[in-house]
Amino acid sequence: MKVVIVEDERQGVEMIVSDLIAVVKNKATTTVGLATGGSMETIYEELVSHGRESAVNFDEVRWFLLDEYLGLNADDPARYRAVIRKQLVDPLGLDPAHLYGPEPDLASGEDAGPKYETAIRAAGGIDLQFLGIGRDGHIGFNEPGSSLASRTRVKKLRPETREDNARYFGGHLSAVPTMAITQGIGTICDARRLVLVAWGEAKAEAIAKCVEGPVTAMAPASALQLHPHVTVVIDQGAAQQLQLKDY
Ligand code: GLP
Repeated sequence: MKVVIVEDERQGVEMIVSDLIAVVKNKATTTVGLATGGSMETIYEELVSHGRESAVNFDEVRWFLLDEYLGLNADDPARYRAVIRKQLVDPLGLDPAHLYGPEPDLASGEDAGPKYETAIRAAGGIDLQFLGIGRDGHIGFNEPGSSLASRTRVKKLRPETREDNARYFGGHLSAVPTMAITQGIGTICDARRLVLVAWGEAKAEAIAKCVEGPVTAMAPASALQLHPHVTVVIDQGAAQQLQLKDY
């Protein structure tokens, strides 16, 4: 696990986007896993402006959502597919057919996981998976207690996660879905490379558990310690509780 402590979010974002562009230049058919959430927003903004300026061709890249809410209307702007369309796919002029995601239709909830796993495999697996982290150490919607070998499946959301995400639902907690479908921890760890980002002090405890804590289902991000190619990019605030920060 490579831990990169940057001066501030801006520096981290520039580094991550330059890296992604280099990866795509090197392999036009790269498959990229996309997390949603505040931590990723500046990365998508930078990718859009940088991507427009540079001559990089994203036509053959395939994009895969990390997770999706269940129970929202097809046209709900809070759906992760809609968020990624708005933040990345549309402004960068990507083909929406190249954006894949789990099928959030409640009726197909049980089948949706295996179907999505098949789609990922058919694309050759994920080359580069981006991740944020929840305050409780969750990745995707793998809440504490998730099996470290889990595959894409339906999960119930914890109250803390719903509260944190209420800001995307006009601050109305009751509007936040109670269920989601998420790539499992085993699915995430199948990606060839993982990049986890966190900005600000509110994530410091989760980052300490992820990087230095024991590998435990109670801190799902700690499973990343077992992956051979992980980069954790954090700012000074998120690095605050790392015991080996200076090392
Ligand atoms: C949600 C998403 C996660 C994300 C987390 C943190 O729960 N499902 O993928 O990592 O939020 O989000 P933020 O970056 O907004 O703090």
